[in-house]
Amino acid sequence: MSSIPMDLFSKQFHQSPYTYYKEIRPHHPFAKVKIHNGVQESWMAFSYEAAEAVLKDERFIKDMKKVFSEEVTEENLTPIAQSMLFVDPPDHKRLRSLVQRGFTPKMIGRLKGRIEEIAREQALFMQGKESVDFIEAYAFPIPIIVICELLGIPSEDRHDFQRWSNIMVEISDEPTFNEDFQAAMLEFHQYLEKLIGAKREQPQDDLLSELILAEEGKDRLTVRELYGVIMLLIVAGHETTVNLIANGVLALLTHPDQLKKLKEEPALTAQAVEELLRYNGPVEFSTDRWARESFEFMGQQVNKGDHVLVSLASADNDSTVFKDPEKLDITREKSPHLAFGKGIHFCLGAPLARLEGEIAIRVLLENYPNLSLDAELSELEWRQSLIIRGLKKLPLKLV
Ligand code: HEM
Repeated sequence: MSSIPMDLFSKQFHQSPYTYYKEIRPHHPFAKVKIHNGVQESWMAFSYEAAEAVLKDERFIKDMKKVFSEEVTEENLTPIAQSMLFVDPPDHKRLRSLVQRGFTPKMIGRLKGRIEEIAREQALFMQGKESVDFIEAYAFPIPIIVICELLGIPSEDRHDFQRWSNIMVEISDEPTFNEDFQAAMLEFHQYLEKLIGAKREQPQDDLLSELILAEEGKDRLTVRELYGVIMLLIVAGHETTVNLIANGVLALLTHPDQLKKLKEEPALTAQAVEELLRYNGPVEFSTDRWARESFEFMGQQVNKGDHVLVSLASADNDSTVFKDPEKLDITREKSPHLAFGKGIHFCLGAPLARLEGEIAIRVLLENYPNLSLDAELSELEWRQSLIIRGLKKLPLKLV
């Protein structure tokens, strides 16, 4: 079968990906697409059935070293590419279990009061302003301050983290992109070197100090893995929940009936967050997977070494699973959305993201019940990424 074009470098694609998905999905549930400027071919799961099947199938592996053992070695991979999200069992279980304890719903529940405090503080900073870039003023600081406090890193450095994280999840056809990427990785690494050094000397009651102890124990975590897990948590903390909050608020503002319902019944917020994750979630694509062997999958011949992605956004808009998927319905029940993935790599941060999303949206609507969009919908620009779905800016009027 010839491959389908998927122009991820075009503004138009990111402006309305759902139109593209709706057209492609029924005829091509799992298909070869041409992305990366037409250079690279990948398999893409578009239907819910295919998406779920890829995420659960252990023949689609994460560790590039196993597929490209000649070209890819530990030394030429960044530490993040060796973190839990990019390795397979048994290393995956070992790495995930080191941090899992800190992210259970029970542990995260303990942060509720502090998240509420941070949200109220950020809401207060916006007081007296008529309009703001909502991402910069509110959606970005809340999850970032939380993840920085959890890890025990200074949230004042968040704009550096943001710069480094952005370059890791964005795609660009700028000729300098590769160089910029390498330079950012080096800076990020040097920053962590200093931070880890300081924490080794003076451990504190935070996740970073705990991870350093695990590395010093030698048997559970190597030094590269230590860098990898910290980078992963920083990037995940910077690129995801921010866009859950911003995409979610945009969806509510463009569906006044749903916004009204939520304002009248704030107890619906947790359920609304599930629908916002499904409707226009912040993670559009899964991360890379590779075929460990050649086999037939969903009627297609997949070859050893083939690259495979899942469009979580397309799967979550599949009408064979979700009734009227284009309708935002904050009272939708039992939504088996894939916004947090599925299988062994299911998002570790899901309980945290859900709680932050719920608190951020509730506190916002309590404080700014009259907020509205301060731009035409067509003026909003979406970021170019092969993972994240998020706006560059979201101008809002607060009064
Ligand atoms: C709304 C916000 C979030 C969404 C939609 C989201 C989504 C996802 C998805 C789809 C995956 C799986 C990717 C794949 O299988 O290729 C994932 C994995 C992961 N996420 Fe999240 N994420 C969010 C927030 C967070 C936060 C706040 C953290 C932690 C600070 C986090 C940490 C992780 C980690 C560590 C993994 C890797 C898990 C593993 O490989 O076992 N995420 N996330």
